[in-house]
Amino acid sequence: MIWTVLLLVQALLFYFILTNRSRRKTDPPLDKGLVPWLGHALEFGKDAAKFLNRMKLKHGNVFTVRAAGRYVTVLLDPHSYDTIMNDSESLDFIRHAQVLMERIFTLRLSHHQMAKAKTMMTKHFMGTNLAALNHTMSRHIQALLKAEMPPNQKDWKEKGLFDFSYSLLFKAGYLTLFGEQNNNTTDLSSIYEEYKKFDDLLTKMARGTLKSEEGKTAQSVRQKLWEFLAPAGLTADLGSRSWLHAYRRLLQEEGVDEETQAKAVLLQLWATQGNVGPAAFWLLGYLLTNPQALWAVKKELSWTSQVEASGTPLMDRPATTPVFDSALEETLRLTAAPFITREVVQEKTLHMADGQEYLLRKGDRVCLFPFISPQMDPEIYQEPQKFKYDRFMNKDGSVKKDFYKGGRRLKYYTMPWGAGTNGCVGKQFAINTIRQFVYMVLTNYDLELCDPNAQMPEVNASRYGFGMLQPQGDLSVRYKPRNTH
Ligand code: HEM
Ligand SMILES: *[C@@H]1O[C@H](CO)[C@@H](O)[C@H](O)[C@H]1NC(C)=O
Ligand SMILES: *[C@@H]1O[C@H](CO)[C@@H](O)[C@H](O)[C@H]1NC(C)=O
Ligand SMILES: *[C@@H]1O[C@H](CO)[C@@H](O)[C@H](O)[C@H]1NC(C)=O
Ligand SMILES: *[C@@H]1O[C@H](CO)[C@@H](O)[C@H](O)[C@H]1NC(C)=O
Ligand SMILES: *[C@@H]1O[C@H](CO)[C@@H](O)[C@H](O)[C@H]1NC(C)=O
Ligand SMILES: *[C@@H]1O[C@H](CO)[C@@H](O)[C@H](O)[C@H]1NC(C)=O
Repeated sequence: MIWTVLLLVQALLFYFILTNRSRRKTDPPLDKGLVPWLGHALEFGKDAAKFLNRMKLKHGNVFTVRAAGRYVTVLLDPHSYDTIMNDSESLDFIRHAQVLMERIFTLRLSHHQMAKAKTMMTKHFMGTNLAALNHTMSRHIQALLKAEMPPNQKDWKEKGLFDFSYSLLFKAGYLTLFGEQNNNTTDLSSIYEEYKKFDDLLTKMARGTLKSEEGKTAQSVRQKLWEFLAPAGLTADLGSRSWLHAYRRLLQEEGVDEETQAKAVLLQLWATQGNVGPAAFWLLGYLLTNPQALWAVKKELSWTSQVEASGTPLMDRPATTPVFDSALEETLRLTAAPFITREVVQEKTLHMADGQEYLLRKGDRVCLFPFISPQMDPEIYQEPQKFKYDRFMNKDGSVKKDFYKGGRRLKYYTMPWGAGTNGCVGKQFAINTIRQFVYMVLTNYDLELCDPNAQMPEVNASRYGFGMLQPQGDLSVRYKPRNTH
């Protein structure tokens, strides 16, 4: 017994010495935090934006922090982002993704399988496939809105805007991408409820900080969702050429067993549904709390519908909506906060735009956090905390793309979709979905704040790093079908 304990203590000590490193000349500033091994993990997890801003003030645009035994080099100079994004040889996207997949979805796929799936997905969310998806999505949004607000309903209905946007777009997205057959509203609502529980535990699963009670909940929620999703895409109910059918076939050809396939489908459910609803919420929320912006967007949408003249405008075709586009870009600037993380698989020299050079050590991670810079950087955006719907358009209505830092024009001035080869494959589809949703809500329904002086809710700080942010609490709104006569 005593020997075991002693051995353990020795092993631990040895481990600490091995992982206890000091800064070399070629390293970026090193900040290990006070707690051995854990380092800054707790502060990082609690509010990553606050923590990284503090580190930025202390160390500048590049520094290495220790978090849960790992060394993470954080780079916050957008002029230098390209050197990271561009080098997939030394910096690997998939390895870090695999770690998260294992923790969140208990899913293991090989490097090769993931790369293949990515290629397949990219193809399916482009061109004619995308046109078909646009169309199906718009049909489902319309039907679900009708079910939510029957045309003969006269009274206001009250709800939280986040709940309203997320649940409706989740259901529409689920029907479009995971199975049209399953349109029983009771079933759809219970899938959403389970999914929402899963989503609420997601950041804790990713960090491995679930309490034991939460761990049990996570396991049972995952189990239920796997069962729901197990048959999805096996039959050709979305068409034999659908992306999900292709995904299932790909996994089968790779010899992936059924259980693992269901886990992979849950991963895709989150990747495709986790960001759209929250993004639509923030956009509608900002519009409702900024009457001038709401007016400008409504004016543009009514003009678009006149151009489309015949019948009900479906908005599933390409359309020019510069005001809407700018308002959405501005929304994403304020509320999209993904980490862009890569694992260093071979030593690499980091050439900063200012001429400095650092060595990235093998086994470390590199992390970009575009939310701090460029997106909330006061040097790039005046009053960065403020929603200005026309920030991304010029006076003549064209898209504004010139933003500067340190006197030099930025290639990346906002990065809600990531960038490079690992950027979001669903970007066009997501934009179109949000546009359709906002368009339908604003043209066919009366939607207003319950309290005309309400402010946007605070951000839930524990979600920094996981894509779209979510609010802490909700924004109460009321709605009813618009009286057209
Ligand atoms: C507002 C909505 C969305 C936002 C802000 C968003 C953002 C992102 C970001 C930041 C990444 C990771 C990039 C990286 O790590 O470097 C990503 C990846 C991905 N997104 Fe989206 N996304 C959205 C909607 C969608 C939709 C609707 C779909 C599918 C229909 C989709 C499919 C994917 C997939 C499959 C990946 C993984 C790509 C890979 O394996 O490299 N996303 N998204
Ligand atoms: C870790 O390294 C620091 C500085 O390099 C040193 O002061 C400290 O004693 C080391 N700790 C252990 C446990 O080796
Ligand atoms: C990115 O990499 C490609 C080739 O791998 C190179 O031609 C290009 O100049 C690089 N761009 C930047 C900005 O480093
Ligand atoms: C689908 O929607 C996207 C986003 O609005 C748009 O860019 C694309 O052109 C649409 N596709 C088709 C074929 O209508
Ligand atoms: C549900 O799907 C069936 C066909 O599968 C269709 O006839 C019905 O109209 C759909 N209901 C709704 C509410 O979309
Ligand atoms: C929908 O599913 C629920 C439970 O799965 C069932 O009780 C209900 O009868 C179904 N409704 C329709 C219209 O099929
Ligand atoms: C904040 O987000 C976490 C993780 O998604 C969730 O568990 C928690 O309930 C949220 N807090 C509030 C107040 O919404």
